[in-house]
Amino acid sequence: MLILGIESSCDETAASVVKDCREICSSVVSTQIEEHKKYGGVVPEIASRRHCENILGVVKKALDDANVTIADLDGIAVTYAPGLIGALLVGVSFAKALAMSAGKPLIPVHHIAGHIATNYLTFPDLEPPYLCLVASGGHSHIIEVLSYTKFRVVGRTRDDAAGECFDKCARAMGFPYPGGVHIDNASANGDPAAFKLPRPIVAGNEFDFSFSGLKTNVINLLHNADQKNIEINRNDLAASLQKTISDILTDHTIRAAQSLGYKKIALAGGVSANTGVRAALSAACKKNGFEFYMPEKKLCGDNGAMIACQGSYNLLAGITADESLNAVATLSMEDI
Ligand code: KG4
Ligand code: ZN
Repeated sequence: MLILGIESSCDETAASVVKDCREICSSVVSTQIEEHKKYGGVVPEIASRRHCENILGVVKKALDDANVTIADLDGIAVTYAPGLIGALLVGVSFAKALAMSAGKPLIPVHHIAGHIATNYLTFPDLEPPYLCLVASGGHSHIIEVLSYTKFRVVGRTRDDAAGECFDKCARAMGFPYPGGVHIDNASANGDPAAFKLPRPIVAGNEFDFSFSGLKTNVINLLHNADQKNIEINRNDLAASLQKTISDILTDHTIRAAQSLGYKKIALAGGVSANTGVRAALSAACKKNGFEFYMPEKKLCGDNGAMIACQGSYNLLAGITADESLNAVATLSMEDI
């Protein structure tokens, strides 16, 4: 089975051909980061325009690199939710037109399900059920992966996502967009115990997250120091922030896995590239007797292979769409 996956939910135009669910034949990612950097974040209008310009070339290259033609495909998978609406619409419209003209099944894929699927691409033997922590620029979720296509969200952020917290603190510290990776790099030379930062507790659901208080605390700390002309060691602050976020994500995930009786824990999403998060969750899993899975670093950010992989499982489960498929900016995984 050969599936083409198309991703355009944020600032990456990506396409990939995946064989038999888990074998990546090609993966092309065209990133717009350099352009959005100038504005300190993604400008939705610009993102849509660049997707429009890039998508045909990216898809063509994915097919060429895999040495296949459209006729060889068994289906065309596309991210339809959640994300920037104008950005999603480009991928959805393109995939619809391609699927209809080639007479191939059109397969709708939820972006977060795609991130989770990066673990199938990394670990050929991983099978549901397991618990997955998905942390990205737009989401921080603890998800029960009940089967390849059924999910239950048991914890979510009430405000900012973990990646958003990394990026906004990084911006206040003077790092370029997206700042997560700069915090990661600076952390390598910093003392994680230098700053004591808050670890908010959320009332109601013990597995939910809240990162906005932590973000505000870091921004206030920088402003106060600036006003008093006190020099802050950015490496120390980065290391303390990374340690705090890693500890919060790890603590909630381990408690959720223990409470729900899972044996396997996986990590996914853009923030899964973070050295501190990877190390903290991996160590906690080892200590508490969980099997641990995380994607290879090159699959952590948005890519087409994760959409093609999840699209393959969706097709096997009979999940396809017709010409009425639309892009959806916000959609819970439980509603797919
Ligand atoms: O999954 P993703 O590529 O896009 C969304 O679906 O949101 O995630 C992007 C997020 C950004 O916030 C980015 O700063 C963060 O992932 N990120 C990192 C690292 N690499 C990417 N955060 C911390 N450390 C990293 N090494
Ligand atoms: Zn993503």
